[in-house]
Amino acid sequence: MPIIAPSFLASDFLRLQQECELINKSEAEWFHLDVMDGRFVPNISFGMPLVEQIRKTTSKACDVHLMIIEPEKYAEDFKKAGADHLTVHFEACTHLHRNIEQIKNLSMKAGVAINPHTPVDFLKDILQDVDIVLMMSVNPGFGGQKFIPHTIEKIKQLRRMIDERGLNVLIEIDGGILPENAASIVAAGADVLVAGSSIFKSKDPLAVIAQLKHL
Ligand code: DX5
Ligand code: ZN
Repeated sequence: MPIIAPSFLASDFLRLQQECELINKSEAEWFHLDVMDGRFVPNISFGMPLVEQIRKTTSKACDVHLMIIEPEKYAEDFKKAGADHLTVHFEACTHLHRNIEQIKNLSMKAGVAINPHTPVDFLKDILQDVDIVLMMSVNPGFGGQKFIPHTIEKIKQLRRMIDERGLNVLIEIDGGILPENAASIVAAGADVLVAGSSIFKSKDPLAVIAQLKHL
């Protein structure tokens, strides 16, 4: 069964506490929090203060997805804000290995994210050092986009790469996930499903989470 990670980008920020309580009641295991800087991606979302508030509402894992340049400047702040997992973008890090080590030294799980155009092969020399690979199935920056079908092929490649080397790395897929396409994503080898719009914009978020969980 996949791990479900609702993305709060699609939630109603005016009702954040109720949205958190709803997800707390659900079968979702992770809270996915999208941080954007208007530099790496053409959008700005939220930062440490919101992560800190959300942290107070839940004992579930806070899975922070940094879509920012120079993430090393903020890793410690996100740890203080309560992040359990910190994921940085391959495309945003000149010294990715150093960034991953920094995150692990701060006692958080370390993730590397790749954009839709970034080949899975590029992960070869960092894969053994990370806990999570977050594969974007849309171009990062906005919720509510359409799943890019080529992602399925990339998931299969990454699954093979991880299994052949006997590594303990989770494959997290992010963007455009719906109850209708989730089964093929999990069949290809995904461990974690991030979903924003399909959960928070639905009339019955708990039912959508249950659907994604029990495919
Ligand atoms: C996009 C974010 C995603 C986004 C997913 O840049 O990384 O986590 O919130 O939203 P949906 O599920 O609506 O595509
Ligand atoms: Zn995300």
